[in-house]
Amino acid sequence: MTSTAFDFTPLLPAGLPAPAAKWTGLAKFSFVGGNNDPDQVPVNGLIAAVDAALRREGRGLATYNLAHGPQGYHPLREFLTAKLKRDAAITCNADDIMIVSGSLQALDLVNQTLLARGDTVIVEQETYQGSLNRLTRLGVNVVGIPLDGDGMRMDALATALSDLKARGIRPKYIYTIPTVQNPTGSIMPEVRRAELLRLSEAYGVPIFEDDCYADLIWDGKRPPAIHAMATNSGVIHIGSFSKSIAPALRVGFVVAPWEIMSRMLALKTDAGSGALEQMVLAEFCAPHFATHVPELTRALRKKLDTLMEALNEQFGTAAEFESPKGGIFLWVKLPDNVDTLKLYQAALASGVSINPGPEWSTNSSHSRSRLRLCFASPSHAQIREGIAVLADVCRREFGVPVRIANVEKARG
Ligand SMILES: Cc1ncc(COP(=O)(O)O)c(C=O)c1O
Repeated sequence: MTSTAFDFTPLLPAGLPAPAAKWTGLAKFSFVGGNNDPDQVPVNGLIAAVDAALRREGRGLATYNLAHGPQGYHPLREFLTAKLKRDAAITCNADDIMIVSGSLQALDLVNQTLLARGDTVIVEQETYQGSLNRLTRLGVNVVGIPLDGDGMRMDALATALSDLKARGIRPKYIYTIPTVQNPTGSIMPEVRRAELLRLSEAYGVPIFEDDCYADLIWDGKRPPAIHAMATNSGVIHIGSFSKSIAPALRVGFVVAPWEIMSRMLALKTDAGSGALEQMVLAEFCAPHFATHVPELTRALRKKLDTLMEALNEQFGTAAEFESPKGGIFLWVKLPDNVDTLKLYQAALASGVSINPGPEWSTNSSHSRSRLRLCFASPSHAQIREGIAVLADVCRREFGVPVRIANVEKARG
């Protein structure tokens, strides 16, 4: 075999994203990404589900989509129909649901269906990096609406919609993560959802509701989905099994009216999302989802407590945060002089990975000294040790937090 390099560079089309860096493994203390708690993956239940599903229907793998059509494995859509009714008050049937390869594929399909370069969309000022990156790549204008403890602020949304209208701009959608917001962890109350729907209808702008974390709520109580409250069909709802079961399965779903669903199906040219994963999820979830999720959230809640304790111990008042109502992230504010993009680099060199705020926000000055910490995947010991290392790095680089123990000694 020849080892001469072939030069692909002149063949690459303009507009490609920057090349990916080679995977170098996870940091020793990893607080990044939407990863879950390894101890909470229901491994034994999944093994039993694989066995049962394959014995019964394994021969179906001979046919694309298991001969259940491009919207996905029918029993999984049936499970979702019942689950969405019970948990989110959404009334739909299996034909309103499309299974996708993770809800990231749903984001892509919705964007491909609705967006062209130069369009405008409205998002929450702090939002999911995966959504922001996609919109940037598509050359779409992104308008960020500030949040408070109840999610997207409706006064700010009303102003933005009216300003855009005055400029002759009709945004393509309002993207929201209303039920355990990523990264801030809030849950939008029902009255605010109603106000959001009112504005959406008044301005003729559809709502794109991303309920990725909606299963992970500490007290298990949630308002109805915006989709469930809508009086017209202007809400596209997406969800995922990544956070409730396991992200590596890559199974998410879309609930959308046929008018949009049929457009998305025309763009979903991958010959079907992985069928084995769909079969296993249907087999496992029908009997076990309702008991698995509270066990998972109990474990996550304990990890959040460990993280908040570690931050209080190591950072003292230098780390400010609101305790999230669920999910897997804590959104933390450090003193103004801390640049979390720089902290990210320095911490990584010491084996701690964090998500710097500016990558999760449309407002670089607001997010400059903020960071997101995922508490689901590190162990309790890793959380404590990792936060101690992070505090040391932050003190070395930015002079905060001041060494609380020394202050005590000096006083004593
Ligand atoms: C808000 C939000 N939406 C969508 C996704 C994509 O999830 P997945 O493709 O694993 O379903 C994530 C992942 O972290 C997320 O945080």
